Amino acid sequence: MTEEELEKLGEAARQDHVPVMMEDGLASLLDYIRSHPRIQSILEIGTAVGYSAMNMASVRPDITVDTLEIDPQMAAQAEANIAAAGLADRVHVHLTDALAYRTEQVYDLIFVDAAKSQYRRYLEHFFANSRRGTVFVFDNLCFHGIVDHPELTHNRSTRQMTAKIRNFRNWLMVEPRFAVEYHADVGDGIAFARRVR
Ligand SMILES: C[S@@+](CC[C@H](N)C(=O)[O-])C[C@H]1O[C@@H](n2cnc3c(N)ncnc32)[C@H](O)[C@@H]1O
Repeated sequence: MTEEELEKLGEAARQDHVPVMMEDGLASLLDYIRSHPRIQSILEIGTAVGYSAMNMASVRPDITVDTLEIDPQMAAQAEANIAAAGLADRVHVHLTDALAYRTEQVYDLIFVDAAKSQYRRYLEHFFANSRRGTVFVFDNLCFHGIVDHPELTHNRSTRQMTAKIRNFRNWLMVEPRFAVEYHADVGDGIAFARRVR
């Protein structure tokens, strides 16, 4: 699939209000994968229509992606998009609640992009699928600025959710199992947490 076709898919998804990654957040994730040639196996939590999964797989032909999606309609759409792009042999959609998914596989990169309030649970659930050097990537750590400025919203559930993101982010920054690079100004706030122990 060409870059242009991928971009069209992203635009169509955004128009349909499917919450796919913001462009500069995705560019930063793809740059990271591009600059780390040993990243070959990727786990993604939160497929939506397969946009970020297909982009990651398109970085190099030796990359495989397992991607987990809880919503059957999203998973079906993602499978159709992935097949149309000729990536079905390398991008595998699993229709499942991520927290119910178990595998023995150890991944080089784990991209966490599902329920924001569950980031810590996903991390602990998939810690056994990492090794020293595996990178966990978390998007939306600013959540449109609300994480740092809760006064921007009066919506109670958004405030609760962004408080959870703030707690998670504060915890992650000092968690000794990880060396963390956090970019507040990229996309919606993205962190690369490399497991160091
Ligand atoms: C932000 S979207 C993913 C966007 C996608 N990574 C992209 O940028 O193209 C989050 C997705 O996670 C899914 N999701 C939410 N909770 C989940 C869970 N517990 N297990 C698996 N998928 C989940 C949602 O249905 C939604 O499609």
